[in-house]
Amino acid sequence: MTTQDALKKQAAEKAVEYLESGMVVGLGSGSTATFAIHAIARLMKEGKLKDIVGIPSSTPTEEVARSLGIPLVGFEEQAVIDVTIDGADEVDPDLNLIKGGGGALLREKVVAQATKKNIIIVDESKISDKLGTIFALPVEVVPFATAAETRYLESLGAKVTVRQNQLGKAFKTDNHNRILDADFGPMDDAVKIGAALSQRAGVVEHGLFLGTTALVIVAGADGIREMKA
Ligand code: 5RP
Repeated sequence: MTTQDALKKQAAEKAVEYLESGMVVGLGSGSTATFAIHAIARLMKEGKLKDIVGIPSSTPTEEVARSLGIPLVGFEEQAVIDVTIDGADEVDPDLNLIKGGGGALLREKVVAQATKKNIIIVDESKISDKLGTIFALPVEVVPFATAAETRYLESLGAKVTVRQNQLGKAFKTDNHNRILDADFGPMDDAVKIGAALSQRAGVVEHGLFLGTTALVIVAGADGIREMKA
């Protein structure tokens, strides 16, 4: 395991300490969240967590959780999620996030908005003073609007890349949309950028998670620290 993976795992192991039997748990997406899903399955097998149901935030997460025997439900069965554990691509000192590195930002945001306590788990490399410093902003757009929203993002000052998959084809989200990676550099006003994107018809959702997070667990060389809202 790489050092970074070891840190991700440490953050995940700390996060599952916040879970209790009987909870509805939001299951995040990405490599760090996957460590948490494995930890949840282990605690369930050991009988330390009982009657847990999960709501997955992406197709890959659903597959992993199913393969580990975690019972899954949808919003038809459960309106409120007690705790969600998810990763992030960048975290600022006010616990605002950039997410969507794995392309799951839409379902992740739906899950986050239905959650009482959102816990974000990251290694130290994800922390910055201003969002946009280390990660371009993923923006999910309907395929029809790809060129139009690329131009719009450029008009806001971003350098834009249409995300591709490993085969060099346009990346497709779980919802059959495209991802534009919009590099704004460090953002002076992330709220303003988020608002500008939210009013665009072709934009389905963007990866700015502002004010949704209760706790960030950061694993670094010096150990684990917690950032609280
Ligand atoms: C997926 C996400 C992930 O949570 C984010 O990309 C972090 O991934 P990882 O834990 O693999 O670094 O937002 O859409």
